[in-house]
Order: sequence, then structure tokens, then C-alpha cells
Amino acid sequence: MKILETKRLLLRRLVLGDLDALFAFYRDPDVIKYIPDAPRSYEETKEELEWFMNGNPKFPELGLWATVSRETGQFIGRCGLLPWTIDGQNEVEVAFALSKEYRGQGLATEAAGALVQYGFQHLQLSRLICLIEPHNKASINVATKIGMTFKKESKDQYGSFWVYAINK
Ligand SMILES: CC(C)(COP(=O)(O)OP(=O)(O)OC[C@H]1O[C@@H](n2cnc3c(N)ncnc32)[C@H](O)[C@@H]1OP(=O)(O)O)[C@@H](O)C(=O)NCCC(=O)NCCS
Repeated sequence: MKILETKRLLLRRLVLGDLDALFAFYRDPDVIKYIPDAPRSYEETKEELEWFMNGNPKFPELGLWATVSRETGQFIGRCGLLPWTIDGQNEVEVAFALSKEYRGQGLATEAAGALVQYGFQHLQLSRLICLIEPHNKASINVATKIGMTFKKESKDQYGSFWVYAINK
């Protein structure tokens, strides 16, 4: 099921047929370097995929979605909108990760910008955030390019992270 389209990308619900591509994607240390809770094994990848296949069970309108090149139909990453509670506040994160060979072409900015628009216009959300490990320059740049600004540093079981946010 299609979630949204941009000029170069299609974001759609994950399907079981994405499992091998998703596993190969998460096996790249460069992809998971700044995603501390990423699945590590085939089993964990399958669990994550099944969790998101029909939408996040608690918030079916949110989720991680297969991100596909419209030109080639290739699975190039996963992006989406994820619910969190941070310092007691309910938030929705704009999440993005792409395979190495598709970076540096503005694709993450394209996906993240479209997700912000989708969140504000289609889902009527009033605020969106990015959760970024302090050294993740690429993500900081994407967040800034889609209009987010630094709000605060916070911490979870994996360590410190920065919260960037944009209000509608
Ligand atoms: C973060 C990520 C999605 C960015 O993807 P991308 O498609 O290369 O990003 P864009 O091409 O849209 O680039 C956005 C801006 O960041 C800059 N940028 C990209 N990679 C960079 C890097 N490694 N270091 C510094 N700046 C970088 C780009 O130059 C661009 O700025 P510019 O337009 O002023 O030149 C990608 O690096 C990735 O998947 N990383 C691994 C997963 C991850 O960390 N996800 C985020 C978790 S919070």
C-alpha cells in the first residue's frame, strides 16, 4: 500500500517480500552505526518487518515504510514516522536511512521533507522531531534542511541523543 510519493521515491508499506532486502540493508555497519536499536539478525529483521507490515499496531497511521526508487523499483532504504515518549512528552519522529549507494543525491532530504508534509497535512500532527546521535552530521544536515532546529539533548538506555523539531 502506497503511503506517499515524491519525484524520485515511493514510500509504501513493507511486505514479506522485502525481508531479504531489509536484512541486507541492516547488515551494513554504516547503516546501523547511528541506529542503536536496529535489528541485528534475520529473525529480528523479520520481527521488525512484521511489526510494521500492517502499520504500527498502536498507531496504525505511523510506521517505517519501504523506500523504493521510482525509476528502478529498487528497495533503497526505510523511512517513516515513529511514535515515542521523550521526557514524558509524546512525539512523532521523522526517521530515515538509506543504502550507501543512494546517498549524497538529496534523497533523504526529499523523503524527510515529504514525511513532514504528510505528518502535518495528512495526519494533522502539530510537531515532528528527529532523534539524532550527536556525531551524525548527515542526519543533522537533513533535519536542518527540512526546517528543524535543535531543541535539547536527552538520554535513553543507548546513550545521549539530540532532539531536533519543527512545529506546524
Ligand atoms: C542520514 C542519511 C539518511 C542521509 O542521506 P542522504 O540521502 O545522503 O542525505 P541528502 O543527500 O539528502 O543530504 C542532506 C544534506 O546532508 C549532507 N550530508 C550527507 N551526508 C553527509 C555526511 N556523511 N556528512 C556531512 N554531511 C552530509 C549533504 O551534503 C546535504 O547537504 P547539502 O545539500 O547542503 O549538501 C544517510 O546518511 C543514512 O542513511 N545514514 C545511515 C542511517 C542513519 O544514520 N539514519 C539517521 C538516523 S537519525
